[in-house]
Formats: sequence, C-alpha cells, structure tokens
Amino acid sequence: MRKPLIAPSLLSADFANLERDIRMLNESNCDWYHLDVMDGVFVPNISFGFPVMQAMARVAEKPLDVHLMIVEPEKFVPQVKALGARVMNVHQEATIHLHRLLNQIRKEGMMSGVTLNPSTPVCMVEDVLQEADVVMLMSVNPGFAGQKFIDETVEKVKRLREMIDRRNLNTLIEIDGGVSRDNAQMLVEAGVDVLVAGSAVFKAADPKKEIDILKGDR
Ligand code: DX5
Ligand code: ZN
Repeated sequence: MRKPLIAPSLLSADFANLERDIRMLNESNCDWYHLDVMDGVFVPNISFGFPVMQAMARVAEKPLDVHLMIVEPEKFVPQVKALGARVMNVHQEATIHLHRLLNQIRKEGMMSGVTLNPSTPVCMVEDVLQEADVVMLMSVNPGFAGQKFIDETVEKVKRLREMIDRRNLNTLIEIDGGVSRDNAQMLVEAGVDVLVAGSAVFKAADPKKEIDILKGDR
C-alpha cells in the first residue's frame, strides 16, 4: 500500500523539553514537523508564535509544516518564509482572498496549503485546487490536541480525492486531528497523503515506533 507522510504535531510535545523532543523526531522516520499556531481569536486557545518556532527551526532537521489557526494569515507570509518552512497552511475560513494568498505563498517558494474546518464543505476549495499544493481537512474542531476523530471526515476525504484525481492534480490531502494507529490505514485507503498526529505520537510509550506504525510498518 501507498505510504503516507507522517507529520507529528509539536503541540503535544513537552514544551519544557522541546529540543529533546525535536531531536527524537530527527532520528525517527517522520517526514514533516507540524507546528500549530493559535491566536485565541480564530480558535479558543493560544499556543506558540514565531520566536518559539525560530528556536524549533534551529534544531529541526526535517521540513516544517506550519498550520496557522489565526485570523488574517496573509499578514505573515514573510515571517513563515523566514522560518524556512516547507508548507504554509492557512484556513479557508480565516482569509478573504484565498486565491491571492495561495499564489503569494507559492511565489515565496513554499508549498501552499489550505485548511478546512469540520463544518466547511470541500466544495469551498474547488476553485482554488490548482493553486493549492496541500488541502488539509480538520478531523476535529481546531484548538486542542487529544480530541476524538470526527468520522464524517472520511467521506470528505473521498470527495476531495475524486475532485483532485478528476483534474489530474498533484495536490496532497492532509488530515489533522484524532489520527491514531486505529484509523491511519483506513484514512490512507480513503485517499489521505499526509497524516498529522499529536497525542498518538507523543503519548506513545515509544514515539519512534508509533511513527512507523502510522506509516504502515508494523
Ligand atoms: C488541533 C491541531 C492539531 C493537533 C492534533 O487544533 O491543529 O494539529 O495538535 O492533535 P491530535 O493528533 O492529538 O488530535
Ligand atoms: Zn494542526
């Protein structure tokens, strides 16, 4: 079976031991580091911002996947680029001129990512699919790690897969929230390319082994 990319979410890392946790991921078979930025406005929580991510970037040896859960993400394209991020993921619900923003992100040499909340239908990105390198579906309401996977997301994955394949695009499908060894394989079969996992990785007895299990290597 096709192997997914694994993007552990640092939101579930031990913030008092970030360097240790990132070095552990450097040695693992994970693919991207998923960094969750929250502003307390778009989501009911605040996580970390650019100074902390700059420190993480100094230790990280793999690409950064920055998930901005903030209003007006278009203001921060230069800062995300300065981090050296591979992917800049913005919420469809948080920006008015999505088409322009996705193009700006690409122009800065990053992969353009658009994220949808559970209540936002996939048709909301239909007309920007060709500008998006990644479409990320939230399978929990954003703001917190450790929530239960919303089952309806699987149908959304299938619809999005169809939309992308019909148009012969290379857009990656990423999924974020409640991903674990119990649903990883089913999600890949439905068409997911990138699995984000916070608690599944960091609460595991052996996080590196858990990453292999999420990838399908048991
Ligand atoms: C939620 C964040 C997620 C979160 C995932 O708002 O966007 O990336 O860290 O955590 P788990 O995998 O524990 O649901
Ligand atoms: Zn996230």
